[in-house]
Amino acid sequence: MCALREKVSGNLVFRSMTLHDIPDIMIIEHESFTLPWSEDAFRNELTHNHFARYLIMEYNGKPIGYAGMWTIVDEAHVTNIAVRPGYRGQHLGERLLNEIMDWASDLGMLRMTLEVRVSNYVAQSLYGKKGFVPAGTRKGYYSDNNEDALIMWSDLPGADFNFDEEESSAGEGRERNW
Ligand SMILES: CC(C)(COP(=O)(O)OP(=O)(O)OC[C@H]1O[C@@H](n2cnc3c(N)ncnc32)[C@H](O)[C@@H]1OP(=O)(O)O)[C@@H](O)C(=O)NCCC(=O)NCCS
Repeated sequence: MCALREKVSGNLVFRSMTLHDIPDIMIIEHESFTLPWSEDAFRNELTHNHFARYLIMEYNGKPIGYAGMWTIVDEAHVTNIAVRPGYRGQHLGERLLNEIMDWASDLGMLRMTLEVRVSNYVAQSLYGKKGFVPAGTRKGYYSDNNEDALIMWSDLPGADFNFDEEESSAGEGRERNW
């Protein structure tokens, strides 16, 4: 299995996260989540968890988003996905999700799953757009407010997914600078 990833797409670079990224990731993590992961949690993921894959989305040399997953047998479990607040609403979260789904597919994963707060309609809408469907809830999953998690699943595209075709049709009908 290939543990490292790097792809340039217009002004964006998608690449594997390293320990050097953790200070930037902590900023995005705290901007994005009410239960942010600690530096140690990320360090442990990057150094000890052989199932873990973390992808950085970089613009002008700075991380503006990231996504992570655990790849187990043929299922990818998304651990987190976030875009810096100032960059949201420009289809960058969708690009990031596309990339991690593509990576999972390249690693031989057949399905992808994740948990999302039942109140997080923005993320649910993004996931729905990418083919994720609800498959149940985990009661009281989030410890800060005892909120339920919606469990979602999606099939992944085949390993022969054609990036060039996907790039040429992405973002049609919507102006963007990426
Ligand atoms: C969820 C998140 C990654 C989405 O990233 P984004 O770059 O803002 O989203 P995009 O611009 O790529 O939008 C993709 C789709 O998401 C949905 N979406 C995005 N912003 C939305 C909004 N303000 N209201 C409703 N739906 C929205 C839409 O379905 C959109 O597709 P469309 O524009 O064609 O309708 C981002 O909002 C984020 O980092 N949130 C905080 C962290 C978080 O909640 N992560 C998910 C944890 S499970």
